[in-house]
Amino acid sequence: MSSPEAVDDARAFAELDALLSEGLGAFAEARDSAAVEAARVEFLGMKQGRIKHAQERLKTLEPSARRGYGQKFNSVKKSLEEACEEARNRIGRSKPDRAVRSVDLTLPGNRERRLGHTHPLTQTADELIDLFGRLGFEVARGPEVEDVRHNFEALNIPPAHPARDPRDNFYLSESSMLRSQTSTVQIRVMEKRKPPIRVVAIGRVYRPDVVDATHSFMFHQIEGLMVDKGVTMADLKTVLRLFAASYLGTDVQIRFRPSFFPFTEPSVEVDMLWHGGDRWVEMGGAGMVDPNVFEAVGYDPEVYTGFAFGLGVERLCMRRHAIDDIRLLYQNDVRFLEQF
Ligand code: DAH
Repeated sequence: MSSPEAVDDARAFAELDALLSEGLGAFAEARDSAAVEAARVEFLGMKQGRIKHAQERLKTLEPSARRGYGQKFNSVKKSLEEACEEARNRIGRSKPDRAVRSVDLTLPGNRERRLGHTHPLTQTADELIDLFGRLGFEVARGPEVEDVRHNFEALNIPPAHPARDPRDNFYLSESSMLRSQTSTVQIRVMEKRKPPIRVVAIGRVYRPDVVDATHSFMFHQIEGLMVDKGVTMADLKTVLRLFAASYLGTDVQIRFRPSFFPFTEPSVEVDMLWHGGDRWVEMGGAGMVDPNVFEAVGYDPEVYTGFAFGLGVERLCMRRHAIDDIRLLYQNDVRFLEQF
């Protein structure tokens, strides 16, 4: 008695015979180029043709039967190709059927669509939120159309302060404006919640700057705020160093310089060594929350301390990817965007 495998192998050989005789018949019967083409696709098509299936069948055979099957397969394939060629010649290439010539029926019907991906700035924002999330900061949000109280007053920036100059801000009315900094969100969070607080807010800010390689009238900041009992400047520096090492890499140096902001005391500016290594570029500002700010939101500055920082998102993205012109991030030229 023959084994089931042997029976199956015999069937494969019989199928090759059938393929040959049916294929030869189809090519012989074809009366026009469309019929030849249809027969070619059915029997010789490299995607779905029967020859393709016959080829795949080889793998299912017992090793002992493969050699014989392979030889027979090759001869069947050759005969069918010759029959196809013969049929084409018989019908004549002198009057080719244009439809058949220009449409390759063996091509797959649905071409793969080109998919886009997230913009490098969006990628940066996602990553920043993720990194600060791991340091225990949750995400807070605030409006882009802000009132003067949140943008200035509560941040200890009095009416006569030069930062409030109409030439440096987009005022919508006397009391409302497009926010010029994300520090506004610090106030909004503290108004609603009691410490302990650890939040980051990321979003657009607006300033009437002349656009050039490093300036734009709209850009993004990520603001951070931590308030609790006993928060110190050492915590601030640790968080910013950890963040910079994670996002930019441990090889990118950062430094803290004494500075001044109305809403922090003491204040620092944070610089990163730019790619090229020949200059420092400001990454943002930071400091210990000024007691006046705590008083504006009803926190007791004798009980709580906190730190805050505001970093430029575009600059972080540019440093990370060695981009030198901020405008590239807004022009949406796919040749640029495809690189990320
Ligand atoms: N808001 C400041 C700016 O736009 C940046 C800043 C400085 C944010 C110090 C802070 C801070 O939270 O503590 O220039």
